[in-house]
Amino acid sequence: MTSAGRPAGRARVDLVIAPTPLHRALRLSHELGVELLFKRDDLTGAGLGGNKLRGLEFLIADALARGCDSLVTGAGPQSNWTMLAALACLRYEIEPHVVCYGSGEQHQASRAEGNMRLHRWLGVDVRFTGAAERSSVDAGIAAVTAELRAAGRRPYPVPRGGATPLGALGYVRASEELAAQLAALDEPPTGLWLATGSCGTQAGLLAGAALTGAPYQVVGVTVSRPASECASRIRELAADAASLGGIGADIPEPDVRDGWTGPGYGVASAAGQAAARLVAVTEGVFLDPVFGAKAMAALIAECRAGRVHGPIVFLVSGGAPTLFAGPATAGRRSTRQHPAGQAPGCMRAPDPGGE
Ligand SMILES: Cc1ncc(COP(=O)(O)O)c(C=O)c1O
Repeated sequence: MTSAGRPAGRARVDLVIAPTPLHRALRLSHELGVELLFKRDDLTGAGLGGNKLRGLEFLIADALARGCDSLVTGAGPQSNWTMLAALACLRYEIEPHVVCYGSGEQHQASRAEGNMRLHRWLGVDVRFTGAAERSSVDAGIAAVTAELRAAGRRPYPVPRGGATPLGALGYVRASEELAAQLAALDEPPTGLWLATGSCGTQAGLLAGAALTGAPYQVVGVTVSRPASECASRIRELAADAASLGGIGADIPEPDVRDGWTGPGYGVASAAGQAAARLVAVTEGVFLDPVFGAKAMAALIAECRAGRVHGPIVFLVSGGAPTLFAGPATAGRRSTRQHPAGQAPGCMRAPDPGGE
């Protein structure tokens, strides 16, 4: 069932149509005065694409190798991760179980939207913890795993966001793919920018950069945890992924930028929505409001301040379903009334996505 491809010495299944395109963002580069390239992991091929499919190639292969018949994971109710994990499971005849924080009633309004709609359409077992804390998902995953075991099943639990050393190998492999694409360019990039949530993607890219001797610095823009917490998670995940993948090279210190979360995790920011609109009108690419838009806002600010020099690669990491959840958001100042407690220019995004 697993493919012949065993990069980093590990079996994986085929979920990603690789290589994903790497292309110049000419009009945006002109606008910002810095050469930008887009690595299009919104076009990874399954579902509506997204970064999470890369880690899932390794996680699903591991679940199959262990003879598991079900997978339990969790996140927020509009999670790209859980939707793609469920889709990948179904493709390999593994039964997906998803645990979300919050309560079903609380998220009733968004049940027909975005990723929630897709979970329901796929017929995935989705349970709510009833608690608002994201960490309540961890106990929920353990409880559903125990329940399945007690029923004689063989579940494969995966932590929120799929942020494990094995999952991080997805972006070690992506780094190898990127290295081959960059070899065709005249000038090597100085930076690779991305949105960081549960940290697995940045950890994989950091280990992958070390493996390939990449010329660029990997820069993550956190959209949830404080930068210091991300840095320690990334350090640990990257080191563990490196040892799993037999990477001997030194892993550099993680570079994580703070200050772009806006009103909160899963809530669109005015800066993010303005950045996403600029990308849409210059390049015809939609960035999701929870991750990509905020990372791009940070990169645009650095370009405009003259603090970065190109070429820069920006990872377009997917999240398309969340464009179709919650109130429509746009970079322009809204003429509508803002609900109490929300800053003008910011609206509730989809229910919190991601990990
Ligand atoms: C669209 C999108 N971009 C970026 C990220 C961040 O990736 P990570 O959780 O590996 O840091 C996520 C996480 O869910 C995501 O869904």
